[in-house]
Amino acid sequence: MNVAVIGANGGIGRRLLPRLDQAGHDPIGVVRSDEQFDAIRERGGEPRLGDLEEEVAPALEGADAVVFTAGAGGSTGWDKTILVDLWGAERAVTACAEFGIDRFVMVSSRGAGDPESRQGPIKPYIVAKHVADRSLQRSPLEETILRPTRLTDEEGTGRVAAHFGTDPETGPPIPRDDVAQAVVACLENKDTVGHAVTLYGGDTPIEEAMQEAS
Ligand SMILES: NC(=O)c1ccc[n+]([C@@H]2O[C@H](COP(=O)([O-])OP(=O)(O)OC[C@H]3O[C@@H](n4cnc5c(N)ncnc54)[C@H](OP(=O)(O)O)[C@@H]3O)[C@@H](O)[C@H]2O)c1
Repeated sequence: MNVAVIGANGGIGRRLLPRLDQAGHDPIGVVRSDEQFDAIRERGGEPRLGDLEEEVAPALEGADAVVFTAGAGGSTGWDKTILVDLWGAERAVTACAEFGIDRFVMVSSRGAGDPESRQGPIKPYIVAKHVADRSLQRSPLEETILRPTRLTDEEGTGRVAAHFGTDPETGPPIPRDDVAQAVVACLENKDTVGHAVTLYGGDTPIEEAMQEAS
């Protein structure tokens, strides 16, 4: 499968490309600077330029599936949260619908299913993720939404706690590497289509955890 990864130079994206390559897929690494092209190639991806604040659609052409794992990050303002996490994600969904790309995996955030349950400074981010997720769910695309809790750069464990249809408030953080593995598991398991899955660190082997969708 040709899989375009938006946010390919990010913490999850960098770990996802080699996993897709090793699983026999053809990853397309969508980045916003050509200085990142060599790193994308080294991870087994075909680099393409795409900026969610400018033009991203052409970078998705020819993909069979798109993974959105971009984000404005915590050190920018809420303007970037709206332009990247919300509007950028919506524009990527629209581009997929236009190009006939059916499959979309969104890396969202824990809590995005119910922003009213979250208060404090993180709430605008959670609202942005919620609206982006809702747009995807209302689109004709075959979508899976992963909602990880706090991410770490620890080595992956190959195991998670996956919550389908529930969104527990607390639990262990999750390594970015395990989220990357969960993305591949979703792409390879059609039963995950239509599901929003909260992810914590846990004990269940990732592919087995994704089987819970069936
Ligand atoms: N941090 C957490 O604890 C946490 C928890 C739950 C969910 N999440 C979500 O998980 C996802 C991935 O997280 P992460 O830690 O891997 O993120 P990250 O390391 O911050 O990477 C985000 C990527 O998005 C790219 N990006 C930013 N603005 C862009 C734009 N306008 N156009 C195209 N790409 C753009 C960045 O590009 P550059 O490399 O060029 O800067 C970067 O590569 C994000 O959606 C985040 O919101 C994070």
